[in-house]
Amino acid sequence: MQHTNESKKLFIETLGCQMNDNDSAHIVAELNKHKNYTTTQNIEEADLIIINTCSVREKPVQKLFSEIGQFNVKKKEGAKIGVCGCTASHLGKDIIKRAPYVDFVLGARNISKISTIVEQKGAVEIDINNDDSNYDFARAETSMYKTSVNISIGCDKECTYCIVPATRGDEISIPPEMIIEQITKDVKRGAVEVMLLGQNVNSYGRRFSDGRSKTTFTQLLHDISKIQGLERIRFTSPHPLHMDDAFIEEFAQNPKISKCIHMPLQSGSTSVLKAMKRGYTKEWFLNRALKIRKMVPDVRITTDIIVAFPGETQEDFNDTIDVINQVKFDQIFNFKYSPRPNTAALELKELEIPDETGSKRLIEVIELHKLHQSELMRSNVGKTMKVLFENLKPNGEVSGFTDNYCQVFVKGSDELLGKIVEVKITDATRTTLKGEVV
Ligand code: 5AD
Ligand code: SF4
Repeated sequence: MQHTNESKKLFIETLGCQMNDNDSAHIVAELNKHKNYTTTQNIEEADLIIINTCSVREKPVQKLFSEIGQFNVKKKEGAKIGVCGCTASHLGKDIIKRAPYVDFVLGARNISKISTIVEQKGAVEIDINNDDSNYDFARAETSMYKTSVNISIGCDKECTYCIVPATRGDEISIPPEMIIEQITKDVKRGAVEVMLLGQNVNSYGRRFSDGRSKTTFTQLLHDISKIQGLERIRFTSPHPLHMDDAFIEEFAQNPKISKCIHMPLQSGSTSVLKAMKRGYTKEWFLNRALKIRKMVPDVRITTDIIVAFPGETQEDFNDTIDVINQVKFDQIFNFKYSPRPNTAALELKELEIPDETGSKRLIEVIELHKLHQSELMRSNVGKTMKVLFENLKPNGEVSGFTDNYCQVFVKGSDELLGKIVEVKITDATRTTLKGEVV
């Protein structure tokens, strides 16, 4: 909503995952609607500076304090500073103790309180049992053709390396009718693609705050795909454990579902997976991934891998390499294990792996993956693929994404924007494609 009287300025920086991006979009929209803020990229003119933090690994947490220190130096007289997100949840009032110029701390699961907390100097709201699942957030348009919608909050898993259950609390699903209404509205204003977000999307439907009966993610996908005018459905992150046959079938057969799927492996070793409490084995993961590859020939499979989890032997690591070789991931997000507070893996401290071993394993994964990536991208040359165009570049190129979420560049004009068009692929780099509209 635009206000006629002069607005206050908000500078917001977002770290971490897509869930955090979406939380930031909600913060921006709520503050616009209720407090007359509009965003600025210029920190010096901001009346309010917010950093939306991530705590999944240690580095960004260390960076936080040096960063807000700089905000404090650059900010104009009287401007407020707020720390939001996962690090806010887990450090709470310690943030204000360490950096007394911080005005408020708002945890990841408390975003709906943003409009009141900005007025309360020294406030700390980090209740991980707060239930935002029925809150009708104000909406901010972040892209003309795409929208993101949360389908659940929190996470019920107990992966032993992960801090998220401690920062985002138990999993609660957002009612399907709210999700569908939201997407329908976004489609009316021009969105053709939706990204469904949750820490663990495919366990959707097991708990609602009004105690209604259970449903499934597969059912939700099916219902969302009935929305007229919606062309493409994406989601992240699913859990390999919950990829049952019904889900894979829906994924394969529903033409509106983008054929790109994130399958966070974490480790290829059954014994490491057990120590991580992932709930599946190497064989289960391979069975699911290879079934998806067989049923959906053009599928792109992306993954997350943690190397050097405490106790990971060379043999365990070889299992990870073996899975990478068998699945040939289209994209790998690699991480070296980082011990986090409030996680069970801290008890395995004496089994921690020397940093050099971790670095060597990380490099091995990266190098192997680069080979696969080049090969997979080259295999697209000569194919005709459907591309949703989104961006016009100054050099006359238009870019967009294929159904399986490869980025493609073609020569063209703004007439292509927002449309799904067939493109013949003529060239490939390791990360992008070039083509011609057919
Ligand atoms: N150390 C390293 N990587 C981690 N991740 C989560 N927790 C940790 C940790 N303690 C990674 C996982 C997850 C991704 C979002 O971050 O791979 O899927
Ligand atoms: Fe997202 Fe996890 Fe980081 Fe929180 S800790 S911002 S949930 S990646």
